[in-house]
Amino acid sequence: MRNRSWGFILLVLSAIVLNLDAFELRKGQKTERISGSAGDVLEDDPVGRLKVFVYELPSKYNKKILQKDPRCLNHMFAAEIYMHRFLLSSPVRTLNPEEADWFYTPVYTTCDLTPNGLPLPFKSPRMMRSAIQLISSNWPYWNRTEGADHFFIVPHDFGACFHYQEEKAIERGILPLLQRATLVQTFGQRNHVCLKEGSITVPPYAPPQKMQSHLIPPSIPRSIFVYFRGLFYDVGNDPEGGYYARGARAAVWENFKDNPLFDISTEHPTTYYEDMQRAVFCLCPLGWAPWSPRLVEAVIFGCIPVIIADDIVLPFADAIPWEDIGVYVDEKDVPNLDTILTSIPTEVILRKQRLLANPSMKQAMLFPHPAQSGDAFHQILNGLARKLPHDKSVYLRKGEKVLNWTAGPLADLKPW
Ligand SMILES: *[C@@H]1O[C@H](CO)[C@@H](O)[C@H](O)[C@H]1NC(C)=O
Ligand SMILES: *[C@@H]1O[C@H](CO)[C@@H](O)[C@H](O)[C@H]1NC(C)=O
Repeated sequence: MRNRSWGFILLVLSAIVLNLDAFELRKGQKTERISGSAGDVLEDDPVGRLKVFVYELPSKYNKKILQKDPRCLNHMFAAEIYMHRFLLSSPVRTLNPEEADWFYTPVYTTCDLTPNGLPLPFKSPRMMRSAIQLISSNWPYWNRTEGADHFFIVPHDFGACFHYQEEKAIERGILPLLQRATLVQTFGQRNHVCLKEGSITVPPYAPPQKMQSHLIPPSIPRSIFVYFRGLFYDVGNDPEGGYYARGARAAVWENFKDNPLFDISTEHPTTYYEDMQRAVFCLCPLGWAPWSPRLVEAVIFGCIPVIIADDIVLPFADAIPWEDIGVYVDEKDVPNLDTILTSIPTEVILRKQRLLANPSMKQAMLFPHPAQSGDAFHQILNGLARKLPHDKSVYLRKGEKVLNWTAGPLADLKPW
C-alpha cells in the first residue's frame, strides 16, 4: 500500500517536472546541440565524399518480388527497398563504375512474408548467391576485391546469417560469399558471429508519414512514467519460457504488472504513438533479436528509450550519443527497474529530453521519401564515406581467390 501511494506521488511529481519542461520549450529553449565529436557527425553531408555504382539487375531480384507483396514497403525491413530507390536518384550515384568507391547490389532478400507478415529468410542465401554470381560474371569489379568494396543491405533479424532463430543463425554464420563485403544491417550485438567488424548498424524501418500524423502538441505533459506495449512471453515459439528475450520481458511483467508507475501490457492500443508522447520512459527490451522498432519510435516521440539488451550495438553508434539520450539497463537488473528509473535525477531526465528533441537525432532514425538531409540514408552514406579510402590490401592479385564458393549448407548452393 505504502509503495503504491509513493508511486502516485512520483507520478504527479514527474508530471509537474515535465510540465516545466514544456514551459521551457515554449520559451524557445527547444533543443540542445549535441556537442562533441559524436553528435556533430550527424550533420555531415556525404555528397562529394563518395561515389556509388548501382548494379543493374534483372527485376526478379528486386521489383518483381515487391510487386508480388507490396506489404514489403511498410515492413520493418523495408530499408532494403527504400535504400535502392534513394540511391538511384542520389547525387552520390555514378554511372561510371571505373570511378566508383562503392558498389551496391539491389537485391530484396527479406521480401518474402508469411500471411501474418513474418519474413522468411529461407530463400535469401540462394538469392544473394545468385545475384553475386551474376555481378561477378558480368562486371570485373567483384573479382577485383571479392566484394571488399561492395556493400549490401541485409536488414533481417540476424543480418546475413539469414535465420530468425538465434541458434540457427549462429550455426549458419554470415553467408560465405559476403565475408569480405560491408554489411548494412539492423542487427547489432557485440561479439556475435552475425555482426562482422566494419558493418554499419542502421535503424529498422518505421513509416515516417504514419508517425508524423500521430504527433500531439509538445505542451501535453508526460504523465506516464514507464510505457511498454508488446509481448512478454512467446508461448508459440518458446513454450517453456526463458529463451524469448532471455527472460527479460517476462521479468518486466512479473515484477511490475501491478506497479502504478508502469503502464505495460500486451494490448496494442490505437493511441500507441500518442501514448509514447505522454511517457517519460519507453522500454526497449530485446525480443528474439536485440533490436526492435520501439527504439526508433521512442526517439521520434521524445520518450527516453530504456535499452534492455546486453551488448546491443545501436544504430549509427559512431554518430548518435546513445548514452546521453537513453538509459541502459542490464538484463539481470530488470527486477530493479523501478528503483533504477526513479533514482535518475530530474535534471538528467530533462537533459535527455532536450537532446531527444534535437531534430537531427530524429531525422537520422528515418528513411523518408523523398529523402531529407541528415536522414538514415545520409547516415549510411556517411558511414561508407568514413571507410574511405579503401586499404590497398583489399585489391587481390590477378587470379587470386579468397572466398570459397562451395562453402556453407548444401541447400544454399542450389540455383535460385
Ligand atoms: C570472376 O571469377 C569467376 C570465378 O573465378 C569467373 O567465372 C568469372 O568469369 C570472373 N569474372 C570476370 C568478369 O572475369
Ligand atoms: C570450400 O568449402 C567446401 C565445403 O565446406 C570444402 O569441402 C572445400 O574444401 C573448401 N575449399 C577450400 C579451397 O577451402
